[in-house]
Amino acid sequence: MLNIEEPVKLQFLSNDGLGGLTPDFLDQEQVKQVKRFHSTFADYKATPLVSLDNLAAKLNVKKIYIKDEAYRFGLDAFKVLGGAYAIAKLLCKKLGVELDEIDFNYLKSKEVKEEIGDVTFVTATDGNHGRGVAWAASQLGYQAIVYLPKGSAKRRVEAIRETGAKAVVTDANYDKTVSYAINKAEIEDWLIVQDTAWEGYEEIPSWIMQGYTTMADEALLQMELDGIDKPTHLFLQAGVGSMAGSVLGYYANYYDGKPPITTIVEPNDAACIFKSAFVGDGLAHNVDSDLKTDMAGLACGEPNPIAWQILRDFSKMNVKCDDSVAATGMRMLANPLGNDPRVIAGESGAVGLGLLTLLMNDSKLNEVREELDLNEDSVVLLFNTEGATDPINYQRIIWGGKGSLALNL
Ligand SMILES: Cc1ncc(COP(=O)(O)O)c(C=O)c1O
Repeated sequence: MLNIEEPVKLQFLSNDGLGGLTPDFLDQEQVKQVKRFHSTFADYKATPLVSLDNLAAKLNVKKIYIKDEAYRFGLDAFKVLGGAYAIAKLLCKKLGVELDEIDFNYLKSKEVKEEIGDVTFVTATDGNHGRGVAWAASQLGYQAIVYLPKGSAKRRVEAIRETGAKAVVTDANYDKTVSYAINKAEIEDWLIVQDTAWEGYEEIPSWIMQGYTTMADEALLQMELDGIDKPTHLFLQAGVGSMAGSVLGYYANYYDGKPPITTIVEPNDAACIFKSAFVGDGLAHNVDSDLKTDMAGLACGEPNPIAWQILRDFSKMNVKCDDSVAATGMRMLANPLGNDPRVIAGESGAVGLGLLTLLMNDSKLNEVREELDLNEDSVVLLFNTEGATDPINYQRIIWGGKGSLALNL
């Protein structure tokens, strides 16, 4: 393990246990079904894949691609891909039909509504997942109740309420808010649609992970159009790890057990995947902390055990880092070099780029860079998983930084 204190607090842990069975539930057959369903949404459109060529030249890699999920269905984040897919699967189960026989419009129909009756979907969220669930429920004519942890950004709460859902901010952290939502759902007989798994609750989070594969699949097709068969490197940010597990599991299947060299990135105080790798007994482990970080989407202390197994088997490196790594990535994306396109990336969306920049820059990290085989031939794929979902914090970070004025605008 490599510990760095300056210029920012960082820890690197290599993962030796490469390999294992590729996860069937993320194989091509499943992925095709998911994508077909997503493409039946009225507003479906692949999100942009941006190539930052000037930045790649500056950092001395061949290519940097960013899949920009800030454009997903006008919801500013990728999360709806999972929540909407899981709700659709749940409804299909109740209706006794197969998802590949129907489309989104059918689920919206009067006939379906009459058969299903009144259903309330409930979830806990840092914001993005809840907004996706609330949006999908409202599109299909159902009620949603969304619990958010203490300190949730006002705009993230409002965005959920704008869909017509009820949003409740608890006085607990993310993990405790999840437990609270589960309890409430049991008492009230609501349907819980949670983006993480626990014993006895695996089907819905697996559907959610399947839902996320659409963005990974789109990215591959977009890279192929640009003449790239396979990215050499992935940087995936993790909260509970469902997104990273989904994307890595998808690429592990697609490339016959040999996905790109993958680094999992987490905030210092919410690094449950890092901790699970560090303990090294093959199991998922929680971190018990305040989960304090600007990267609200990654502020989770309890890993999804299904995702953890994929990350354990197929990732190469675990990293935990300070918020300043994310802030650097946000500022770089907002202020592109030359004619590189501008990307609006929220706190949880930009950390991968911040880390890549450090790796290509800081001589203290030479060993890690060599271990990862990052060099002028590298084709790096990153996922900007959110736009400015908390616009106040976004502006504070972009306009702030060392030497800036303390503005109160
Ligand atoms: C913007 C954003 N990026 C990444 C993640 C991490 O996803 P996961 O919790 O599946 O690891 C989240 C989770 O909410 C998120 O909102």
